[in-house]
Amino acid sequence: MISLQNVCKEYPNGVKALNDVSLNIDTFGIVAIVGKSGSGKSTLLNMLGALDKPTSGKVFIDGEDVSAMSDKQLSKLRNERVGFVFQSFYLEPTLSVEDNVCVPLMIKGAPKKEREERALKLLEAFKIGGKSLSRVSQLSGGEKQRVAIARALANDAKIILCDEPTGNLDSENSQIVLHYLKHISADRTVILITHNEDDAKKYAGRIIRLSDGKIVEDYENDPD
Ligand SMILES: Nc1ncnc2c1ncn2[C@@H]1O[C@H](COP(=O)(O)OP(=O)(O)OP(=O)(O)O)[C@@H](O)[C@H]1O
Ligand SMILES: [Mg+2]
Repeated sequence: MISLQNVCKEYPNGVKALNDVSLNIDTFGIVAIVGKSGSGKSTLLNMLGALDKPTSGKVFIDGEDVSAMSDKQLSKLRNERVGFVFQSFYLEPTLSVEDNVCVPLMIKGAPKKEREERALKLLEAFKIGGKSLSRVSQLSGGEKQRVAIARALANDAKIILCDEPTGNLDSENSQIVLHYLKHISADRTVILITHNEDDAKKYAGRIIRLSDGKIVEDYENDPD
């Protein structure tokens, strides 16, 4: 599904955030990425989702070389095949819950009825169907993050990238969100950056550790 070959990333200020990273992710389930602050986790996630280009090395998504794609092809790939969930949600606070979930479908040009049906189905699966017409600004953090996951799934992306999705949540809401990520990982790949090693061990089938822009550990984990 995703393959990185000898990826290096150096930012314009000279910081080498990734140093010769090679990685294959080709199974469903949760893959956790752990490591200290500044070790390169977010930079790696940006590579995995084609949000940013490597300085050298190659990134393949579903067998396609990302560096050979035009900006238009890249936008389409990101919208239809990859879902993103971030620590700070990145939802549109003034739109309703349902309209937020519909954004990827709107970009794709899906008809209104189809968009609404799909959004409501997802929101119901995440037990927030009753809030579909509320504004996002009226939701709790845990609810917002469930909306963000629903949006990431709107186009049925098989790759879901999550950067500290529970970083802004209390422990109860964190567990609820992780539970849903686990649930959706039955038939897709969820890549989860987390500072919380206990969460990684509890939920991930594979744990990758970064240090100074290099993979220093990569092992299968038997989640609880
Ligand atoms: N846009 C940027 N321009 C310059 N340097 C950057 C940029 N983004 C990240 N860096 C640097 O690259 C290195 C890796 O950063 P990255 O954000 O990938 O780390 P991280 O593991 O996600 O950290 P955290 O756990 O704090 O989120 C750090 O030294 C950081 O300062
Ligand atoms: Mg980060």
